[in-house]
Amino acid sequence: MAELASERDITTIPKVELHIHLNGSIREETASTLARRHGEDPGTALRLVDGRYPGHYANFGGFLDAYMLANQFVRTPDDLELVAAEFARGQAAQNVAYSEAIFTAMIYVRNGMEPTQMWAALNRGLAAGGPDTRIGLVVDAIRDFGQAEAQATIDLVEAAQRDVPIVGLCLTGVDSSEPIENFNILREAATRMGLGYQVHAGEMGPPPSIWEALDVLGADRIGHGVQAIRDPELLERLIREQVPLDVCPSSNVSISLWPTLEDHPVAEFWHRGVNMTISSDDPPFFHTTLTDELRHVVRLARLSRDDLEGLQRRAVRASFADVATKAAVTARIDAWSAAG
Ligand code: ADE
Ligand code: ZN
Repeated sequence: MAELASERDITTIPKVELHIHLNGSIREETASTLARRHGEDPGTALRLVDGRYPGHYANFGGFLDAYMLANQFVRTPDDLELVAAEFARGQAAQNVAYSEAIFTAMIYVRNGMEPTQMWAALNRGLAAGGPDTRIGLVVDAIRDFGQAEAQATIDLVEAAQRDVPIVGLCLTGVDSSEPIENFNILREAATRMGLGYQVHAGEMGPPPSIWEALDVLGADRIGHGVQAIRDPELLERLIREQVPLDVCPSSNVSISLWPTLEDHPVAEFWHRGVNMTISSDDPPFFHTTLTDELRHVVRLARLSRDDLEGLQRRAVRASFADVATKAAVTARIDAWSAAG
C-alpha cells in the first residue's frame, strides 16, 4: 500500500479551495479590531470564549449567530478591505493557488455599504495575497431572504461584473417560505452572464434537497451534499454523473451533523469515487484551516501523495475559473509534482 502523504506534502502542495465564505473567514483578532473600531467591547459583542469563537455549535443556527455577530462590524469599505486582505494573506500562507470565495454582498449592503465602494475595497483587499494567490468570487443569495433579495444580488453582480473577478453565483441558506422555483432566476442569470452556479444542499437539508438542487435548480456544483450518504440511489447518481461536491468535514462536525470526524462520510465518498473536493467553509468559526482539512482527509481516507495531488487537480477541473487561470494553477501543481 502506498505511503500516506507526508506533512511536508500537505503544507507545500499548491492548493485549490472552492468553498470558503469570505464573510466566514473573519478571524477573532480581526473581528475584535472591527468591534473596537465601532466602539464595542469585542469579548462581549462577539461572545468569544477564551478569545475564540465557540468552534462547536448545537446546530447551524448556533454557528449563524456567531457569524452574524462578527459580520455586523464590517460596515465601511475600510472594514471590508481589512477582512479581504487578511483572507488573501491567509490563503497565500497556506499555498492556496486558487480560491473561490463565496461573498454575501447583501449583508454589507444591508450594513450600509455603498456597492461601488464595496467592490473597490474588495479588489484592494484581495490584492494583498499577491499575484500567485488567485481568487474568484462566487456571490450568493441566502434562500431565507427570498426572491427579492436574490434579484437584488443579481442586480449587484450585473453592475459589477466587469470590475470584480466574479466567477459564479450561489444559493446558500437553510429554508425558504417561497416556492423553490422562485430561485431559478439565479440559474438564468448565471447562464446569461457566463458564470458557474453552486447550490448549498444536503448539509442541514435531507437528500431530497440535493435532488432538487440538480433537477429543479440546475446547479453546476453542490455545496456540501454530504447527506447523500443516506440515499443509496442518489449517491449512485452523483458517482455516475460525477457531480462535483464541495465537502467541508470540520464544518459539518462543528454544527453537530456528525459527532466526530471519524463518523463523517468523507472517507466513504473517496473510496466510492464521489467527485468531491475539500474545503474549510468558515474556518475560524470551526477552529480549522484548509491545511487542517487536508490533514484530516489524508488520515481518514488514507490518501497518498498522488491522491492528494489528484484531489487538487480535480478541484481545478470543478472550479468556475477561466481557461488561463486553470492553466496557471495546473502549471504550479505540475512544478510541485516534478520537484518531488
Ligand atoms: N453561510 C455561511 N456558511 C454556511 C453554511 N455552512 N451553510 C449555509 N450557509 C452558510
Ligand atoms: Zn458554505
